[in-house]
Amino acid sequence: MAKTHKTTAGKLEFFVRCASGFEPVLADELRALHMERVRPLQGGVAFFGELVDGYRACLWSRIATRVQLVLARVGAVDAKALYAGVRGMAWEDLVQPQATIAVDAHGTNNALRNTAYIALKVKDALCDRLKEVQGARPNVDARNPDFAVNVALHQQKATLYLNLSGASLHRRGYRKDGVQTEAPLKETLAAGMLLAAGWPSVARKGGVLVDPMCGSGTLAIEAALIAADVAPGLQRDRWGFEGWLGHDADLWSFVRKQAEEMGRRATPHVHIVAGDLDTRAIDIARANARRAHVESLIEFFEDDARNVGRHLRGVIKDKDVAGLMVANPPYGQRLLTSDDLVHVREAVSMAVDSLPCGWNVALISPDAGIDSSLGRVPERLIECHNGPIAVWIRVYDTSRARQTAEVVSLAGVRHEVPIADTGSTQFVARLRKVARERMRWARREDISCLRLYDADLPEYALTVELYQEADASGARYALIEEHRRPKPLPALKAGRRFADATALTAAVLDLSFDSIVARQWVSSRDAGARHEGPHEPLPLMVEEQGLHFEIDLWGKPDTGLPLVLRGVRQLVGELSASQPKDACFANLCAASGAATAYAVRAGMTRTVSVDSFADRVEWVRRSLRSNELGGTAHQFVREDMRTWVEQEIAARHKYSLLLFVPPAWMAARKQDKHDWELQRDHAGFLLQMARICAKGGTIVFVAEQRGFGLDKQQLVQPGFAVRDVSSQTLPHDFERSVQEHHCYLLSK
Ligand SMILES: C[S@@+](CC[C@H](N)C(=O)[O-])C[C@H]1O[C@@H](n2cnc3c(N)ncnc32)[C@H](O)[C@@H]1O
Repeated sequence: MAKTHKTTAGKLEFFVRCASGFEPVLADELRALHMERVRPLQGGVAFFGELVDGYRACLWSRIATRVQLVLARVGAVDAKALYAGVRGMAWEDLVQPQATIAVDAHGTNNALRNTAYIALKVKDALCDRLKEVQGARPNVDARNPDFAVNVALHQQKATLYLNLSGASLHRRGYRKDGVQTEAPLKETLAAGMLLAAGWPSVARKGGVLVDPMCGSGTLAIEAALIAADVAPGLQRDRWGFEGWLGHDADLWSFVRKQAEEMGRRATPHVHIVAGDLDTRAIDIARANARRAHVESLIEFFEDDARNVGRHLRGVIKDKDVAGLMVANPPYGQRLLTSDDLVHVREAVSMAVDSLPCGWNVALISPDAGIDSSLGRVPERLIECHNGPIAVWIRVYDTSRARQTAEVVSLAGVRHEVPIADTGSTQFVARLRKVARERMRWARREDISCLRLYDADLPEYALTVELYQEADASGARYALIEEHRRPKPLPALKAGRRFADATALTAAVLDLSFDSIVARQWVSSRDAGARHEGPHEPLPLMVEEQGLHFEIDLWGKPDTGLPLVLRGVRQLVGELSASQPKDACFANLCAASGAATAYAVRAGMTRTVSVDSFADRVEWVRRSLRSNELGGTAHQFVREDMRTWVEQEIAARHKYSLLLFVPPAWMAARKQDKHDWELQRDHAGFLLQMARICAKGGTIVFVAEQRGFGLDKQQLVQPGFAVRDVSSQTLPHDFERSVQEHHCYLLSK
């Protein structure tokens, strides 16, 4: 046998890799396989043993992605030392003649900063050694090598491993590339989830497993392989040790035979049930199960997950039978804010509610809000990745009582709402109090779209706005937005609270989930998703002060009718009413043109609305049209505001009323593509605007930014007066946003 690095006790040293987050689960699995000195580390688990243990890890581990054997540790203070160390190794005793090789590396240090370079140095040293000793260099095959070396650099040392298992172990061989459902779980991840959720112990008791959203069936198939004691690697036909001189073919054949024998002996008395809404998914899952030779162990059904109870009736003969429901509900970037998400949550919670008490439930999802819809907090949480998406595996015990909050709506209807965070009851109390007062005020003022809650509690730093359709239906919608992540809260907790707040708001207002538009702040790290709305926009018509506006609650970055500017629009109307007959109004950054409509209704016969986006310019046109405020003297201009002002200066045009409301994203983004920054640039731009302001005319300037300060010094110009009217334009329902609202009148 070849000389391989051994410990003083004569043992081989292995490092088994797995997806991050699964190290403790893999350690338990390896202990159950009787490995010795098992130590979970970052990204994998180390253990010591004989070659047979390495083979068993390759064949039997359901969670491992790769099994590595330590070949040597060499000094790696710099490239020279690394080269010398690797060249000094007896590769001729390790690599089979004619075997193709590949080297990959990870980790860096001060002198060796590039993993591709590290791999290249190691490959050169290995090839040079073989050339020297055997007279020929091995061929490199980066994709499908016979002998793969993994290098891990840590500080001044490099560990050289032989990749014993070869291609990633998640490739069991039963799934065909290209014919799977969307986003199938990797087999190793599915198995990890089942082990973390305690499936082996349920299976030993002859229990039930159900996956009501089975997709291509990975969870059900892995569950069947576990229950039937089938080694997950039995169908693989290629291994990483085949190009290694230390490989012991007889020993490997013995390990395999033993595994085959075990699989034959086991007669599992479990029930595994898998369902999906989609016929195609069921066909694919069935074909995968057939290829994995476990088709007879799985009962498939085609139905909505919410009806899973019906499909379990036949298999639950004994009411005390142990059981586990697993699911990988669909999710994606868009789903996080859409109705579909609500339907998925509803289906999952209805499925969970139909299970016998005491069953466990394991879900894999990035959606922290699922806890709220279940009214449960998981007993076990594993943070991991499904492809690029950060997800959690959440394991719940249904014998624990659900958490619910009793909510009496503003109309006096009693609701029982599942919640995940008991602290959320504070939110209901506050929302009810503020919303009741606001709605009374709005009725008095004849306002039908208003802010009901404005981050009144720091732990629930979100806003709730109510919009009522102007048509006969009078349908009401709530827009719930988290504008920024509440700082000290970890993503999971923030997600639960946001979801609780969403469900509680629906109850307080007696709204169905279809009438709730919720946009949570989701950082890219959390879920690969952004703060964005789904679907095609669904415009709604709302009314404000007798005018009708089309709004888009699903749009971004705003709805088209920012409620905080209600007072500013009213002021524009009042100022327009007192203008001379031939006065002209200019609306810069016009957005949906609501203010233009106010101006025209008040008697402005000539207006120009300027916006840099074509869809916005069209929106202004519609805003006038839907209020029958058309006419030829209204212009709609698609242009950058600064270019437009320069053109008007050159043309010597004059306006008696100008409105300038830079959108919030302009304030937030320090360097947008037009290089505009509110605090730095507002004064210079207002002075430019002053050049097209008629004598006796007025500029209305609004800055929606916390901490904004008007640059008075620059604006002190002869014949130019500035007045802060923020307190007059701030609407009552935005009193808590007082620090963000700044409105000035500049007159000439
Ligand atoms: C992400 S996939 C599951 C992937 C699966 N774990 C695998 O490895 O292939 C989600 C599945 O849920 C199904 N689904 C979505 N909503 C459902 C519902 N209400 N009831 C049942 N199945 C549903 C979809 O058809 C899809 O196949």
